[in-house]
Parts: sequence; structure tokens; C-alpha cells
Amino acid sequence: MFKHTIVRTPCQKVCDGITSAPELGQPIYEKALKQHETYIEALKKTGVDVLVLPPLEDFPDSCFMEDVAVVAGECAIVTNPGAASRNKEADYVEEALLKFYNKKDIGHIVSPGTLEGGDVMKCGDTFYIGLSARTNKEGIDQFAAFFAQYGYKTIAVPLEKVLHLKTGVNYLENNKMLVSGEFIDDPAFAEYEKLIVPEAEAYGANCIWMNGTVIIPMGYPTVKAQIEKAGYPIIEVDTSEFRKIDGGLSCLSLRF
Ligand code: GLY
Repeated sequence: MFKHTIVRTPCQKVCDGITSAPELGQPIYEKALKQHETYIEALKKTGVDVLVLPPLEDFPDSCFMEDVAVVAGECAIVTNPGAASRNKEADYVEEALLKFYNKKDIGHIVSPGTLEGGDVMKCGDTFYIGLSARTNKEGIDQFAAFFAQYGYKTIAVPLEKVLHLKTGVNYLENNKMLVSGEFIDDPAFAEYEKLIVPEAEAYGANCIWMNGTVIIPMGYPTVKAQIEKAGYPIIEVDTSEFRKIDGGLSCLSLRF
């Protein structure tokens, strides 16, 4: 069960975040702020506390908190984001982590290793990590060595199309996995019971399990129906402004 979450308020430059979908237009700052507040309320409804960090005005993508650290119950790691414009965001997360972890239990990914938390999916004591344009083999090796000290196993999953691993696959606990596109037939996930996301609703694959409830993005009816059929209570949150800059529900928080 999760007790804590950490989020960072979107900055005014959120409209300049990295995007692979410029046709969706730029995020509207005020709307992004409102959606972020709704997201925080949704997290709170699942029984967690939410530490809200102040905006980082020099980093348009900095509300995507998940990319700068990976957190587990007893330890955490500060990442080294592979996107050049995001790399220094990681310098601002350790102070927050120290409120929850001993310094000795906080690791660091260092160059030439790169890693972004969006590429990391925790399933029990196993971490699946996307080998992506943002996360390299050296980063995964450093991650695996650090978490092995705490009994965790790491499995690398090469990505073909998506930005981050969790852009396309997310674990809903109870052996259930929400999968889309290139992950539907990926042998890495053969052992899981799959909830298949249709191509037309690919963005809807980024849902988060929160203490038995699944928070889902608004506007993905097939995804919603599948998760309801699997027996989970649902909270829907509008993430339209974050979608415009390749961000989703998991990207917006650290959960532990
Ligand atoms: N805009 C989110 C990212 O590219 O990291």
C-alpha cells in the first residue's frame, strides 16, 4: 500500500514542455494548474498524503516528477534524465526524498548512465525498465546494482516506439497488467493477466493503481470499461493539458 506521494506544481513555462504531438497545441497554464489540483485531490482520496513541491520555472517539464527519482518502501534513487533539457531537474528532488529516507538509502544514477523514472515499472520485487531514448544500458546496470542490495530484481525491456515504458504498460497489482501497442505480445509480460488497450485509446494505458483504486485519464471508455470489469473502483482525472506534452497520470507523481 502507498502512504506518500510527491508532486511538483507545473511552472508557467509548462507550455514549452517537450512534445511529440505538436498538433495537440500547447498546454494552457491555468488549465494545467487546475488539472494538477484535481490530480492531487484524486491522490488524497486513495488515502495517501501529498507533498507538493514548488514550481521550477527553468524547467518546463518539471511537473513530471516521476522521471527524476524512483522510490520503493525502504530506498530510493535519484535519476539522471536522458533528455538534456530535463537533466538538471534531478538536482531538486533529493531534499524532498530526505524527508522520507535515510541518506544512505538514497542512490544516484551518474553519467554516462541515464535513466528516467517513466521507464521504470515496479511489480512486487521486480523492476521492469525500458531501454529507451532516455534510459541507457549503463543507467539500467547502475539501477540494478543499487536495488539488488535491497533484494530487488531488474529486467530490461527494449522499447521500439513509445517514449517511456509506462507510456504503454502499467501494473495494476493482482497480476493484472494494462498493456498497449508494442507490449501486448512482449514475452517480458507473458506471465501477467493482460487488459488490452486498443490503439485508438493508447494514451489511456497510463493509469495508476493507488491502494486498490485505479486513477484513469478522462476520455478513454474502453480502458475504463476493462478496468471496471476487472473489479477496480475508478477515479477519472482530466489530463488533457499534460497529454499535449507527452505526460500522463504516472508522470505527475512519486508514489511509495
Ligand atoms: N514532456 C515530457 C517529457 O518529454 O519528458
